[in-house]
Amino acid sequence: MEYRSSITHVDSPGDLLDPRLYADVRRPLLEASQLPAWCYTSSEFFARERDRIFAREWIMVGRAEDIPKSGDYFTTLLAGVPLVVVRGRSGQIRAFVNSCRHRGTEMVRGHGNRRVLTCPYHSWCYSLDGDLLSAPGMEGVDGFDKNEYPLVGIGFAEWEGFLFANLNPGHAPLDEHLGDLKRTLASHRMGDLVTVRKETYELQCNWKLLIENFKESYHLATVHRSTIDTYASVRVAGYVPETTRGEYLVSFASHDGSMALFREDKGFPPIRTLDEKAANGSYFPLVYPHLGLCATIDCCWYLQVEPKDASHTRLTVGSLFPRETVERPDFADVVNNYFKRWDITIAEDNEICELQQRGLASNHPVRAGRYAPNEANVHAIDNWVLDRVLGDAGSIR
Ligand code: FES
Ligand SMILES: [Fe+2]
Repeated sequence: MEYRSSITHVDSPGDLLDPRLYADVRRPLLEASQLPAWCYTSSEFFARERDRIFAREWIMVGRAEDIPKSGDYFTTLLAGVPLVVVRGRSGQIRAFVNSCRHRGTEMVRGHGNRRVLTCPYHSWCYSLDGDLLSAPGMEGVDGFDKNEYPLVGIGFAEWEGFLFANLNPGHAPLDEHLGDLKRTLASHRMGDLVTVRKETYELQCNWKLLIENFKESYHLATVHRSTIDTYASVRVAGYVPETTRGEYLVSFASHDGSMALFREDKGFPPIRTLDEKAANGSYFPLVYPHLGLCATIDCCWYLQVEPKDASHTRLTVGSLFPRETVERPDFADVVNNYFKRWDITIAEDNEICELQQRGLASNHPVRAGRYAPNEANVHAIDNWVLDRVLGDAGSIR
């Protein structure tokens, strides 16, 4: 088919939100061009993503096991809003805006355990459920009622031990977001798995590069030529995309053994509860916008992608194993084989994403590249982002 672009190249477009700039991304895969470079470098485009994606969608902020006891909390920043996620007296976890209702001070930092949440400025004190318990010095203030000034709660839900927050008061339930992924991954029982390691990487690249890379297998034969590709190449494993209902993409790779180990290395027995399909390969879901999951036969790992600005992203990789595996006498020894595999391949991915960012940031005006046939997921991700960044005006496929 003859390819005709509706735009050639734009050096410095005036309105970055003009849908006509993205007409080529909206075409079917084999006719489409990729997102223009500014989508990965522009602070204006990034601000729109923050407001239209990270301030509106369900965002994974941690694991329930991070805060196992009543009073345990951690803080995080979501779309610029400081949050505190805390386990209350009854064991229920909630997320609040981490800002005092008096004059707005950030209440707690980092993580820890508190009986109550007390503001460091003038000591207004809140229960773990967010109720304002005391406001010293406010006696005699006309019409002041403590009940009207609780901490501001935001949307919060848990799935298989993953904690999700949502800043959008009109959000749909998390169940709807996850759709049939819950069923697909049910036999891994991820809620019962134990996080044995969390590694954090501060990367100099746009957040989309990490998730695009996570969801394409085109690079296995190059970036991972001497690692994953030696035992789970595209030809062998397939990485077959599955039809989904929900805000996620998933592919399934068929292979023997664990995807989390180099072939020569000793590993652990499979997860006992796996269904027949799960026992013969690995699922790789991307839960939009930012959570990559890898569910293989003996463990799972996740990639939590947190944008900082247009060209800086924090990546957290968590490693999950069944409790019975963690309790094995040889666990501390054998788990190093898994850590080795992750450390090597994650470094390969991180390095290529940072190289890509450097190339994109050159600002050399070029026509955006084309998608390969096996980059359908990258095309899908880019269009998912545009659907939200451009809104209704952008639906011109
Ligand atoms: S700002 Fe929190 S008590 Fe004053
Ligand atoms: Fe990779």
